[in-house]
Amino acid sequence: MENTTSAQCTIAMTLYKIFFPLLLTVLFTTVSTTQAAPANSKLFREYIGAEGKGVTFSDVPISAKVEFHFILSFAIDYTSSSLPSPTNGNFKVYWDTENLTPSHVSSIKAQHPNVKVAMSLGGDTIQGQHVYFNPESINSWVRNAIDSLTEISRQYNLDGIDIDYEHFNADPDTFAECIGRLMFYLKQQNIVSFTSIAPYDDDSVQPHYLALWRKYGHLIDYVNFQFYAYDKGTNVSEFLKYFDTQSSNYNGGKILGSFGTDGSGGLSPQNGFFEACSKLQQQGKLHGIFIWSADDSKKDDFRYEKKSQNFLAYKK
Ligand SMILES: *[C@@H]1O[C@H](CO)[C@@H](O)[C@H](O)[C@H]1NC(C)=O
Repeated sequence: MENTTSAQCTIAMTLYKIFFPLLLTVLFTTVSTTQAAPANSKLFREYIGAEGKGVTFSDVPISAKVEFHFILSFAIDYTSSSLPSPTNGNFKVYWDTENLTPSHVSSIKAQHPNVKVAMSLGGDTIQGQHVYFNPESINSWVRNAIDSLTEISRQYNLDGIDIDYEHFNADPDTFAECIGRLMFYLKQQNIVSFTSIAPYDDDSVQPHYLALWRKYGHLIDYVNFQFYAYDKGTNVSEFLKYFDTQSSNYNGGKILGSFGTDGSGGLSPQNGFFEACSKLQQQGKLHGIFIWSADDSKKDDFRYEKKSQNFLAYKK
């Protein structure tokens, strides 16, 4: 009787050893398949807080039928003196800290389960001068960035980061290494759950983001391509051509359509932005829409935020 039991036990263990790895494989395959968000996802993202216009989360209309990301603008690794200078990865908060506080973040997330909040790193300027990506070394920049961003992320209970450096004092490979290692660590430690990048079509900018994409693209969830950095008066067919070019540059990436409410360039809603988005949706290529920025949209009562979310919620 005892012998039989131990023999059964041995057989059971052997079967377990053979099948357990298979089971794991099946589980992981299932997980990675379901993680791949479908094209035409209902993702709406908006930058907020860069322009000191007193805008807060609850000013912005939020549809329950979309996935909504606020992107706080910006955390910057610069000093806050009257002549700001680079701090080698020691980030500080430079968004509107009066109207976009940690308790504002918790309350908007509590009211809207579909809302997540991210912070964007870098940006164009600080006190009227360009913000440069300016690391002293890869290791020291990454160490400082991990420490400072972990603290900010926990303080504000954030969900993601966006990379929006637009000026560079380092080569593309250094940028790729610094940002790639930072994203890897923040995701691995569950400090953030998603990442995005915000490149635009410029010869001094794109090589940095393309180097990052080639080496660490698997860590980047969304590409907030700044289509509003193209010329004013861009028409639908030009926009669609740009979208295809960037989709092949960031091959396999989730590229979002975008426009600015600050009078910047690109394809405006008045000139057919939503018509272009319909075409992209028909082709299964649209991974969402983002707007720069809530600060600028306040004066028009967020009419295009409403329109964008309606579009994403109801269009097939
Ligand atoms: C869009 O602009 C391009 C370049 O200016 C022009 O050739 C094209 O005809 C325009 N398309 C439409 C539909 O207006």
